[in-house]
Formats: sequence, C-alpha cells, structure tokens
Amino acid sequence: MLDKVIELTNGYIDTMPKKERKKYGQFFTSMETARFMASLYDITPDMTKISVLDAGAGSGILACAFLERVERLPFVEEIEVTCYENDENVLQLLEDNLRYCQEKSAKKVSFFIFKNSIDFSVSFYNYHEPSIYPCL
Ligand SMILES: C[S@@+](CC[C@H](N)C(=O)[O-])C[C@H]1O[C@@H](n2cnc3c(N)ncnc32)[C@H](O)[C@@H]1O
Repeated sequence: MLDKVIELTNGYIDTMPKKERKKYGQFFTSMETARFMASLYDITPDMTKISVLDAGAGSGILACAFLERVERLPFVEEIEVTCYENDENVLQLLEDNLRYCQEKSAKKVSFFIFKNSIDFSVSFYNYHEPSIYPCL
C-alpha cells in the first residue's frame, strides 16, 4: 500500500519545484521511517475503531503507513483519518493517496481533509477556522 503512495509522492516531488515545497517546509518521510513511526502506536485488541490525526499530512505518507499497519490487525474494523494540510499544491495527491488506501483496505476507512487558512508561523491569536477540503 505504502509503496504506491511513495511512488506517487516521488512523482509529485519531480514536478514541484523545491522552492515551492520549501515555502511550506514540505519534506516527505521515507517509507522505512513512516513504517517505523506507524509501528510505535500501541494498538490493543479492544480498539476496534480507531481515529487518527495527521497534522501537516503532505501526501499522506504517515496516515497511509498507519492504515497499512492496521490492515494486519484482525480486531480493527474501522479507521477514521483526519488530515490537515495547507498547501493547495499537494491536496489532490493527498486525496488520491487516501482514496487509494481506502480502496485497497479490507477495513472500513473514512477520511477528512482540512485545509488550514493560516501557517504555523502566524500567531495563535489570529486563529481562523480551517475549511474542509471538498473531497467527500
Ligand atoms: C515536513 S512536511 C511532512 C509531510 C508528511 N507528514 C510526511 O511525513 O511526509 C509538513 C507538511 O505540513 C504542511 N503544513 C505546514 N503548515 C501547516 C498548517 N498550518 N496546517 C496544515 N498543514 C501545514 C506542509 O504543507 C507540509 O506538507
């Protein structure tokens, strides 16, 4: 599952100038690191439904690594993924990757993508409600 997501992300990296990606501090996690990070979650048999937040989702590598991991856990039935991402350029890829994992998964997977209207660098006092990315 993650192999495909990494492949599509590499395609995006090839087409998107580094200067553009740097604006958002956009660097992507490698497959090995993403799998390692997904392995760190403590998932117990009582967790039949899991909600996970991917803040600064990029192309969704971390969320997809998580979905790939729970795929092997028979007791998990349902996963809800919430992603925040504020770079317009990567939103379509994020949606495509999540949809790909959703289709590949034998579990009930739902996802939401929120597009922040502010950067982390903007003061918390100027907080704006994020808008939902219309992918559902
Ligand atoms: C270092 S990249 C990591 C991407 C992905 N999580 C990964 O591990 O491959 C950080 C991501 O956070 C996004 N980002 C930066 N500021 C954000 C904000 N205020 N709200 C949502 N996403 C933001 C960037 O556009 C970028 O895609």
